[in-house]
Amino acid sequence: MHMKLFFIVVLLILPTQAAKKKSRNIYYLGTKDEANPKYLRQFQVNISKARDSMNILVEFGQDVRDMWLTVGVGLWQRSNKNFRSIFSYDIDLCDTLKRIKSSKIEVLKVWLSNLFKYGNLSTDCPFYKSVYLFRNFKFDKDSIPTYIPAGKYQTHLCGYRKKMDGSKDIVVSSYLTYELK
Ligand SMILES: *[C@@H]1O[C@H](CO)[C@@H](O)[C@H](O)[C@H]1NC(C)=O
Ligand SMILES: *[C@@H]1O[C@H](CO)[C@@H](O)[C@H](O)[C@H]1NC(C)=O
Repeated sequence: MHMKLFFIVVLLILPTQAAKKKSRNIYYLGTKDEANPKYLRQFQVNISKARDSMNILVEFGQDVRDMWLTVGVGLWQRSNKNFRSIFSYDIDLCDTLKRIKSSKIEVLKVWLSNLFKYGNLSTDCPFYKSVYLFRNFKFDKDSIPTYIPAGKYQTHLCGYRKKMDGSKDIVVSSYLTYELK
């Protein structure tokens, strides 16, 4: 099976703890972020010294009533010094948050509830004009599927609004590089 397809199937079907295997540790290596000043007054991501958590500050400069989210995960390939895409997903974030309890995408449910646990951002839309802080945010051990191999990864998160003509009006784009051990 194609590797990307394999990961999508696995991530969508299996609960995060498919087997009682030893869970992985995650180390944050760096981020590269771009925030659209039209929507975000501030966007800061600071990685802790121990590289095991992050402080994230987001300030919305206006209320945002609709948001889409693209999530892409790439695995580092030593051979061609590149991240090869293993997973990508495009969701209507506001709609997903509304139906999160009944969502069949187990891993998305776990990741989103993990995210909201560390911050004071409302768990559904709209996101009101305000400052939000995620303190010592980390992916909890049981939110990292044990069947994901160790290695260096990059996750691209892109929050955007859909324009009338279908093009993307990017709110924030963030590349997070980390290592699973
Ligand atoms: C991130 O670090 C900078 C520089 O030390 C600091 O000014 C800022 O308040 C920090 N932001 C967060 C969200 O921790
Ligand atoms: C979220 O927390 C930050 C830091 O404690 C605070 O400044 C901000 O007002 C809070 N935002 C909301 C909407 O409660």
